[in-house]
Amino acid sequence: MTAALIQARDMTVSHPGADLPVLSHVSMGIQPREIVTVVGPNGSGKSTLVRALLGQVALTSGRVERARGLRIGYVPQRVHIERAMPMTVRRFLSLPTRVSDAQAAAVLERTGVPGLEQRQIAALSGGQFQRVLLARALLNDPQLLVLDEPTQGLDQPGIVAFYRLIEEVRQETGVAVLMVSHDLLVVMRASDRVICLNGHVCCEGTPQVVSAAPEYRALFGAEAQGTLALYRHHHDHDHDHVEEHVHGPDCGHHHHHREG
Ligand SMILES: Nc1ncnc2c1ncn2[C@@H]1O[C@H](COP(=O)(O)OP(=O)(O)OP(=O)(O)O)[C@@H](O)[C@H]1O
Ligand SMILES: [Mg+2]
Repeated sequence: MTAALIQARDMTVSHPGADLPVLSHVSMGIQPREIVTVVGPNGSGKSTLVRALLGQVALTSGRVERARGLRIGYVPQRVHIERAMPMTVRRFLSLPTRVSDAQAAAVLERTGVPGLEQRQIAALSGGQFQRVLLARALLNDPQLLVLDEPTQGLDQPGIVAFYRLIEEVRQETGVAVLMVSHDLLVVMRASDRVICLNGHVCCEGTPQVVSAAPEYRALFGAEAQGTLALYRHHHDHDHDHVEEHVHGPDCGHHHHHREG
């Protein structure tokens, strides 16, 4: 296995005043070129995990290791304040770091919204705005993109298109992607690996394995059944290799699970 871009080891995070830690003994990492999605209920610590990985939240114990000089493009969960300000797309792309007209045009082209430079941020559709956010995150040529709920406010076709775009950008640039999302069906199709979080890592693995894990089904109920159905028809094929591992304190009995 290649060296991880970023790796959390036995990370625990407690917010001041809270009785229980928000994150307990979380270990996870992201390899180059990987698309990893974190799923979990509201309040399960997804954004805290992301911010701890970025060094924006202090750890109570454990540690985070980053590859030396790692370039990260980050889109936080809450950007609605920026959206309400009168500002053109062109100006937005130059915050906080100035970019040339050519760079701005190229990155808008890459994210599928060419020519939007002079539009007001507030006048963009939800899908255009998410693409502009992605464009800004791509400007420093990141090795890792961190996107906290990038598809919030998009309809189903918009969500699918956004994930397709992420996949294209990965193909083109080799960027690794860590995403937080609630769009279970799309997540399952578009991720290399899924981490199911509920204050701790409940289960983790390929989408196929996670969607079959009891811990995941317990957390997501009926919605999880839909993602499991995605994989049922594959069960006639591909029995030769053991590629599936489920990790986590609650799922030890699923180690070395063999499909079929
Ligand atoms: N700065 C903070 N101070 C105190 N508590 C916090 C802070 N940030 C988050 N929390 C608490 O930590 C818990 C996890 O929050 P977090 O934002 O990580 O959840 P999440 O999984 O991203 O939720 P959502 O799906 O709603 O975005 C919540 O109970 C939240 O209230
Ligand atoms: Mg969050």
